[in-house]
Amino acid sequence: MVKILFVCLGNICRSPTAEGVFRHHANKAGIEDGFTKKIYIDSAGTAGYHLATPPDKRAQLTALKFGVDIGDLKARKLTMQDFSDFTYLLAMDTDNLMIMQRNCPPEHQHKLHLFMSFAENSPGITEVPDPYYGDTEDFNIAYDFIDRAAQGFLKYIIHEHKLLNT
Ligand code: 4NP
Repeated sequence: MVKILFVCLGNICRSPTAEGVFRHHANKAGIEDGFTKKIYIDSAGTAGYHLATPPDKRAQLTALKFGVDIGDLKARKLTMQDFSDFTYLLAMDTDNLMIMQRNCPPEHQHKLHLFMSFAENSPGITEVPDPYYGDTEDFNIAYDFIDRAAQGFLKYIIHEHKLLNT
């Protein structure tokens, strides 16, 4: 099983959106996720400010405009166990990547990536900017960036793990 963890700071804006958008694209491609499936998808925050709360309303509404419902997700904090449990841990920005790199055991460092590094046709975009203190437009931009990276990452793992022909 390929296990994918999306990581941001609070786990209420960017990473739950990434979880929902990626699940949406994977399911559309015929790849279902779950404990007994080929892929497993989750998200977490490097901080625990909003534990067990659903995603920010603004993130929920932005995703819903694209038919992606993230209302059932609940925030949780990244744990040390996540570094061994997951195949890929995808950071929304450099600050969070650095926090992950500082805490991750050496044997799992190769699993850590910037999520935007998988986006196609997005030169110069390396991070999903934090929309939490922003407005609707900031949530739209974050969604657009997440959508590009989700589609690129899906292509990547389909190829890398032969998900469509096994
Ligand atoms: P996220 O956004 O990392 O995309 O979930 C944030 C959510 C909450 C806070 C900061 C960023 N906060 O400071 O509470």
